[in-house]
Amino acid sequence: MTKIRSAKGEIVAGFLAPHPPHLVYAENPAQNEPRSRGGWESLRWAYENCRKSIKELKPDVILVHSLHWQTVVGHHVTATPRLEGRSVDPIFPHLFRYAYGMDVDVELAETIVDECKSAGLESKPMRNPKFRVDYGTIVSLHMLNPDWDIPVVGISANNSPYFYDDKIGQDEMSRLGQATAKAIAKTGRRAVLAASNTLSHLHFPEEPNPQLPEDMSLEHIQSQGQYEWDVKIINLLRAGKIDEFFDVMPQFCREAFAEIKAGGLTWMLEAMGRPRYGAQLHGYGTVIGTGNAVMEWRPEGNQASSHQVSGGQK
Ligand SMILES: [Fe+2]
Repeated sequence: MTKIRSAKGEIVAGFLAPHPPHLVYAENPAQNEPRSRGGWESLRWAYENCRKSIKELKPDVILVHSLHWQTVVGHHVTATPRLEGRSVDPIFPHLFRYAYGMDVDVELAETIVDECKSAGLESKPMRNPKFRVDYGTIVSLHMLNPDWDIPVVGISANNSPYFYDDKIGQDEMSRLGQATAKAIAKTGRRAVLAASNTLSHLHFPEEPNPQLPEDMSLEHIQSQGQYEWDVKIINLLRAGKIDEFFDVMPQFCREAFAEIKAGGLTWMLEAMGRPRYGAQLHGYGTVIGTGNAVMEWRPEGNQASSHQVSGGQK
């Protein structure tokens, strides 16, 4: 039985939070077994700004939509109180073997499922305590909050719409975002959202230096075309040109193989009411050729403090 709080909840910030496992590898946290000499600092420094924001905002919960938790039928939501285990990246097992443990906001998760069903979406609470959490969810959450002291809710990428049609798929992700926002309001949570996606996603077929994956002398964007697409998308989001962003998004996804096709960014922006204020770009960097932007949206009334420089605010 879902317990509804009386206070009205709100989304206090949203983050575009890319999840290359390289970023956790480069941090050398105790939870990850492989050791590194660092690397990809421009993105890791960008995430440091996000951590400051989250500490300042003191949210009740962080919600993450990850395309690496793929469900073919319906939108699944983590709804078991504690998830613990070991996550190994299937593509980069030499970089990411991570012992995770996270508390889940089950009440919010159940309310999201209820709101999805009310909106006519297939949805299901994920109640398996031995469920192995995907590396996309873990990397985004670790980079945003390495202390793991804030409950989380994970939402799957329902790849049924993803397979069939750009428009139907993104429309469904919009409805998922609206349902999520209603659930946050009903449960009275101060929530942070995270869209776990890269931008351009064509990458090198092999590591340029297998002996030293963090060899930054060999890291660069996969192509000039991808770079120009990434800059175009970032500039639209920094300027708050949300309609133009959604207009070009299908072409961007086709031409740059962008992970946002899985719906994470659409879900988040829709939940935040399609914000027409500019997003803060904390940093952009490539990982094995892919384009990654770390960005933050702060609704009015929750504007950033002095640690953030201005950029793109209208
Ligand atoms: Fe990915």
